[in-house]
Amino acid sequence: MTGTAAAPARTVTDDIRVVTDGGITEIIFARPAKKNAITNDMYGAIADALEAAEADDGIRAVLIHGEGGDFTAGNDLGDFAQVARGDVPAERHVVRVLKALARFQKPVIAAVEGAAVGIGTTMLLHCDLVYVADDARLSVPFVSLALVPEAASSLLLPLAIGHRRAYEMFALGEVLSGTDAASIQLVNKALPAAEVLPAARAAAARIIRQPIGALKATKALMRNAALIGVVMDSESRVFAERLRSPEAAEAFTAFAQRRAPDFTRVG
Ligand code: COA
Repeated sequence: MTGTAAAPARTVTDDIRVVTDGGITEIIFARPAKKNAITNDMYGAIADALEAAEADDGIRAVLIHGEGGDFTAGNDLGDFAQVARGDVPAERHVVRVLKALARFQKPVIAAVEGAAVGIGTTMLLHCDLVYVADDARLSVPFVSLALVPEAASSLLLPLAIGHRRAYEMFALGEVLSGTDAASIQLVNKALPAAEVLPAARAAAARIIRQPIGALKATKALMRNAALIGVVMDSESRVFAERLRSPEAAEAFTAFAQRRAPDFTRVG
């Protein structure tokens, strides 16, 4: 795809690519060696891109996808461990991303291949059209990391798929295939991996021809942005406490040491 970089970003990282072309901004996770796990700088670049896309009347839709066969393995666990040790960055850009997604008025489309872990799945709850690979792996293993749901997913995931299915995903870390996610209407369509990005781009090309005023008004009617914001704030408070818990320290250490966590050692 030919394109020009979007408006100058405040946060500089090579691990997020932003390409704007023909009224569509593509935000691309580009850290394939780490399964596109998202660092604070990457959140900063994503927030910059979302804010720029919302502010620019020439942009009529956003498309999010990942390079290298994965969507994203979620928050960088090294970053989580750092915050858990009290080494908090000057600005936690994830908060900006969540707020931008909660308030975003224009259509957001996602193309998901491979792993979509944690925020990789919860951000899909803020996307308006989601295309996944049949063999994509969607999971929200917050409890396994001694954490709690974020991105208003404690509200939106049960709303989308029911309490028990959502609880199974949160509490047991159940992984949904793309095919299963489509069968329970968590996403629009599951496709062979090679067809996912083309399908998402085709949808983006169609939607930018629709009247943007009506699109924005429809989205505003369909989503209670104020409630979503309130839920995000409550989740963030509990999440921040959990992040500093001995249980979470054990989970992050275990990941770094490539072993299963032993929560019987703590608490
Ligand atoms: N944060 C930081 N690094 C991560 C990461 C994350 N969330 N997910 C994967 N990586 C890194 C691995 O440490 C590994 O790095 P290395 O090659 O330098 O050792 C590399 O990405 C490849 O990951 P690996 O685990 O070898 O790939 P896999 O195909 O066996 O498994 C996953 C893929 C996504 C299932 C697995 O990496 C995983 O469970 N990641 C953690 C997901 C998570 O808990 N995210 C937070 C949610 S809140």
